[in-house]
Amino acid sequence: MATTRTTPAFVIGNWKMNGMKASISIAREIADGVASVEKCAVALCPPFTLISAVAEAMVDTAVRIGGQDCHSDAIGAHTGDISAAMLSDAGARYVILGHSERRRDHREKSALIAAKLKQAAEALLFPVVCIGETEEEHDRGRTLSVVRRQLRDSVRDDFVLDAKIPNLIVAYEPVWAIGTGRTPTLAEIAVVHAAIRAQLKRRFGKAGRTIAILYGGSVKASNAAEIFGIPNVNGALVGGASLKADDFLPIVQALERSLSQSQ
Ligand code: PGA
Repeated sequence: MATTRTTPAFVIGNWKMNGMKASISIAREIADGVASVEKCAVALCPPFTLISAVAEAMVDTAVRIGGQDCHSDAIGAHTGDISAAMLSDAGARYVILGHSERRRDHREKSALIAAKLKQAAEALLFPVVCIGETEEEHDRGRTLSVVRRQLRDSVRDDFVLDAKIPNLIVAYEPVWAIGTGRTPTLAEIAVVHAAIRAQLKRRFGKAGRTIAILYGGSVKASNAAEIFGIPNVNGALVGGASLKADDFLPIVQALERSLSQSQ
């Protein structure tokens, strides 16, 4: 009998350039809090220096670990960089690619993200490809064209030929909503996520229906439930609120509740 693949759901915490060894205890608290979570996957992306230690601490828990970036080459003379295979070797299963802070701080363009995506797929990581408009683009009504272009250029058509598409996760993160406490209206999020889903379906057929599309940008306990109620929102990429278990766990619980209600 044919089985229907449902779209997976995720809450992924991005610690950015935060976290010392003492922060492993935060991951432990989060692991305790998600022990009974069944309907969504939970991952934390600590800085590179903590990946091995947090991954070790998370063995036998439901929490998976991710990196915040990887290089576009598999190996070689790239001082200060980390390859996808190294992330995997250190215990990571996910990698964030093309975060707007990388696009801004390191001038990363979508073509480079596409090359990184290939490496991530080779290493069998779950790549979380971030796209999103700046405030100026938003105010000029350019949101959909920016997001569509970034998605097209960051996830190239040939990616699907490698049959790596089922692992792909897309995160819509309006740049102006990241770390600001501001969020788009629910209607705006709905429109962008619908446009992303439409492009994924048009380009990747059946597989495009089951690629998770996360929302990111000032997600917190107080707005998570309403955001997860929006069609085509399959979870969240969480920055600031992933740094404390008390802030992060209610977001995971909100997604779990939303998924239970929609069944
Ligand atoms: P924020 O960050 O939740 O602190 O807004 C989100 C992100 O950058 O992924």
